Amino acid sequence: MRTEPTPDPAVVDLLRAATKVTVMTGAGMSAESGVPTFRDAQTGLWEEFDAASLATPEAWEDDPEMVWPWYLWRARMVRGVEPNAGHLALAELARHKDVRLVTQNVDDLHERAGSDVLAHLHGSLLAFRCTDCGAPAPEPELPEEPTSRAMPPVCAECGGYVRPGVVWFGESLALEPFEAAERAHEDADIVLVIGTSGVVFPAAALPITSRGLGIPVVEINPDETELSDLVQHAWRTTAAAGLPLLVEAATRPV
Ligand code: OAD
Repeated sequence: MRTEPTPDPAVVDLLRAATKVTVMTGAGMSAESGVPTFRDAQTGLWEEFDAASLATPEAWEDDPEMVWPWYLWRARMVRGVEPNAGHLALAELARHKDVRLVTQNVDDLHERAGSDVLAHLHGSLLAFRCTDCGAPAPEPELPEEPTSRAMPPVCAECGGYVRPGVVWFGESLALEPFEAAERAHEDADIVLVIGTSGVVFPAAALPITSRGLGIPVVEINPDETELSDLVQHAWRTTAAAGLPLLVEAATRPV
């Protein structure tokens, strides 16, 4: 484990030598943009809100009027923040390396920083679709203030309720992005795992697969996680503090 303010020279060397760089990000990636994580003590969304009442198909079926405004509030929050220095550093890294960016995040901050995202494993807060027929739906008006209850709009095609395009607990991940993410984790020179607690599967299995194949896995996270014991290098820093330093060190001309 490393807590120093500068990246481990061994990690810099690995990244410098790498051609194929797979990056897996979680909620901590966007924390310094002002988007709360899920499980951080005090500030995590699941500290304040009940996942079973807000992030399951059963909750949606039972009470869509309660679930809907919570996602509007989160979508509005994402619309109101900017990519941080970590997002920008990953976009810069892709100018030098074949970066395959896999994210569990449902925000669009990687894209707004200039990155191509290979896979949004857990969907997108900003891609609304019909619950019944799956037709894409336009982004609804996002209220300034959170409301406690609101009716979701209905689908123009079939009249079903429009739902947020995120993956809820108990739902399957979309196959195509997951398979692309798997391939990226099986065929990489290095894997960077940034800002995830590593507790949600199958996403957390991806860097474990990489490690099993002998691919160096580097964790960037201020805290220890479920993945810390199996990664090759752990750097205790934040995404916005650490990534610019690492990318600069690994791409600067020698
Ligand atoms: P978590 O909230 O579980 O974990 C966030 C991680 O980010 C923790 O390990 C923190 O230590 C770390 N962290 C906090 N601030 C950071 C910073 N500035 N820089 C780097 N790391 C930082 O979030 P995820 O692992 O992404 O699922 O959660 C996985 C899934 O669980 C989410 O995609 C979501 C949630 O329920 C769905 O929406 C389906």
